[in-house]
Amino acid sequence: MVPAAAAASADAALKSAREAAAACHDIDALKAALAAFEGCSLRTTAKNLVFGDGNPKAPLMLIGEAPGADEDREGRPFVGVSGQLLDRMLAAIGQDRSGAYITNILPWRPPGNRKPTPAEILLCQPFVERHIELIAPRLLVFIGGTAAGTLLDRAEGITRLRGRWLSWRDVPAMAIYHPAYLLRQPALKKQAWKDMLAIQQRLEELS
Ligand code: URA
Repeated sequence: MVPAAAAASADAALKSAREAAAACHDIDALKAALAAFEGCSLRTTAKNLVFGDGNPKAPLMLIGEAPGADEDREGRPFVGVSGQLLDRMLAAIGQDRSGAYITNILPWRPPGNRKPTPAEILLCQPFVERHIELIAPRLLVFIGGTAAGTLLDRAEGITRLRGRWLSWRDVPAMAIYHPAYLLRQPALKKQAWKDMLAIQQRLEELS
């Protein structure tokens, strides 16, 4: 495609993502709209749509980056090794998926687990933002730098963003290290533990 035609087609896809997301008034409609959305080419290489998991009525919503191979196979977020660590991090503060809802910035696996491109993130953003609006959590946790940077619209990396209360619109939000990163950098688990305790405390204050 010539560059002008490619830009026009990206604009059209973004417009259609925005319209499709805005038209959804419940979670089932949003899932159906994503399943029908043809503007993102990742859907053609993914096995499954990875929409969300956990309790949609929970006060706590967590948002990761993108599904990996295990999530793609099962159609559920955070079910592989990172997901197992995430479950242990939640268990450490007395939480599990019955008290939390989990999704990702991208609902389809990027081939070979490569990093999502800025264009893919931009295109899927209307859906993840509508997802947050429909879940209406009282507390948001951004798992890793991609989720935090995208939804907070901040350029700083996770090292700077984590560990302090920020907000998404008027919802209190905390960014934490991605469990995949913690598996590679176990020395950071001490800081991650501190962040989880801050989340636990804030949840207690809300209840
Ligand atoms: N990493 C993510 O960010 N999300 C998943 O669902 C799995 C791994």
